[in-house]
Amino acid sequence: MKIKSDILVIGSGIAGLSFAIKTAEKFPDKKITIITKGTKEESNTKYAQGGIATVYDLTRDSYEAHIKDTLIAGDGLCDEEVVKMVITQATERLDELLKWGVSFDKNKNGEYDLGKEGGHSKHRIFHHKDITGYEIERSLLRIVKNTSNIDFYDFHYAIDLITEHQVYGDLISLDSDKTVFGAYVLDEKTKDIKTFTAQYTFLATGGSGQVYETTTNPFVATGDGIGMAYRAKARLSDMEFIQFHPTALYNPGESPAFLISEAVRGFGAYLRNDKDERFMKKYDKRLELAPRDIVARAIDTEMKLQGSKNVYLDVTHLDYDAFIKHFPNITNKCRSLNIDIRKDYIPVAPAAHYMMGGVVVDKQARTSIKNLYACGEVSRTGLHGANRLASNSLLEALVYSHNATQDIAKNFEQNYKLPPIPEWIDTSTDRTMEKILITHDRNEVKTIMSNYVGIVRSNERLLRALRRLYVLYQDNKRLYDHSEITTDLLELRNLITTAYLIVEFSRKRKENKGGFYSKDFEIS
Ligand code: FAD
Ligand code: SIN
Repeated sequence: MKIKSDILVIGSGIAGLSFAIKTAEKFPDKKITIITKGTKEESNTKYAQGGIATVYDLTRDSYEAHIKDTLIAGDGLCDEEVVKMVITQATERLDELLKWGVSFDKNKNGEYDLGKEGGHSKHRIFHHKDITGYEIERSLLRIVKNTSNIDFYDFHYAIDLITEHQVYGDLISLDSDKTVFGAYVLDEKTKDIKTFTAQYTFLATGGSGQVYETTTNPFVATGDGIGMAYRAKARLSDMEFIQFHPTALYNPGESPAFLISEAVRGFGAYLRNDKDERFMKKYDKRLELAPRDIVARAIDTEMKLQGSKNVYLDVTHLDYDAFIKHFPNITNKCRSLNIDIRKDYIPVAPAAHYMMGGVVVDKQARTSIKNLYACGEVSRTGLHGANRLASNSLLEALVYSHNATQDIAKNFEQNYKLPPIPEWIDTSTDRTMEKILITHDRNEVKTIMSNYVGIVRSNERLLRALRRLYVLYQDNKRLYDHSEITTDLLELRNLITTAYLIVEFSRKRKENKGGFYSKDFEIS
């Protein structure tokens, strides 16, 4: 079955939804199609807690200060032009969110109640209690539902991008320039594989935290966009830079890990080790509010020193009423585990949280493949460098979805003709594949990555990871070539590819920076 639109959007987090709304508004006579795997709202966006970093009132904050904080957190590897472009656009993009009905908390004087997080020199985080992402996702989905030129297909899983390779096969050289024409998509309910074609394809598939055992990312974050872009030969970069959030709730058996927002430390919480010491003073003068890579490594070191599986967040000295007003979701979660935050410390440990690298894009969100845009966590814009400043990623997605819309407006071809796109060919011979094999392999990827490619790496660990991943790659390829295509199998393929890329990029880096740290490059 072929479904033709003008613009195909893959993914329904903040990047995909904000882009779809903008393009639908700008081109009322064009058809925009969103596809997403699983339910419409499931995404990293939905779980965002802290909020959106935005300089709004220039009498209290400045673009220069936000730019400086972003560059410092990025550990020297940010693209300064990009940083300036994103941060100076933030006010306009925030106003758009307000127009779309997103509500942010205000204080009793009617002013926005701005939060603070690690690495920020000012209070500048717009938030909706501690469920900012849920509020954004809910509001954007409501607009999409009421927009007549957007078609929305949930439970539709993008398998692969369609480029010249699928159209002309071996007649096309692997090195030649590529154009994207849409994607092959698995209907997760009927199991049909459909061909979605479009002049423009917008890749907004989010992150890949599921390559690790402990992650704050939901089950859908399996690096699918990275896998698709890699197979289509798009340019990727910075895949070695993984952000581990310092403070996920330590609750063995719970997956994904529940986040205790960095805004809690911005609100005044202390980090303590098993000996009740406020250990951050040993590591950084910014204490609990140092950038994330530094705090996560400090916690990792403390846990190793103490032989413990977690450290603690102490909020017992804070104003309880003010705390529950800002963090009702976190308070309820703690309460459900019999943690009384008035007297008990909250057990926390680092968890894989964000992928700084991804599909390389320019300032208009254009990838190295013609007509393919990438936005949000799947992309690598240069904003984050080696370590993302907290609450800069929702902002990044809004800015780049805006820029992509502007770019398309300049280039839309009125009489665009697609080449003859073949339908998907089903080559499966074995329809009885044991699902448990895929589950075992998925767990194995996570174990390999957590054991060998975590917060602290080494050449030896990376080599071990590479060897083990290669075995999994071969097994997965055999299954993929002969078995019925399922979401589990496709996700596993992308998890292995993403894991492989993280390892290979890590092996090439010879200096510790931000989210990459190897014992082999320690400076004593
Ligand atoms: P996502 O929101 O993850 O959306 C990706 C979409 O693509 C999903 O709908 C998914 O189902 C779909 N998809 C994936 N693969 C396929 C496929 N093969 N086919 C079809 N659809 C597919 N950032 C901040 O700036 N501030 C915060 O406070 C903050 N808090 C966070 C808290 C948590 C717990 C987490 C996990 C992240 C947080 N982040 C925060 C990071 C931020 O939420 C994400 O980087 C951002 O939401 C990513 O948006 P996105 O649209 O790129 O991807
Ligand atoms: C948090 O609330 O700690 C997450 C913020 C982010 O990842 O930007």
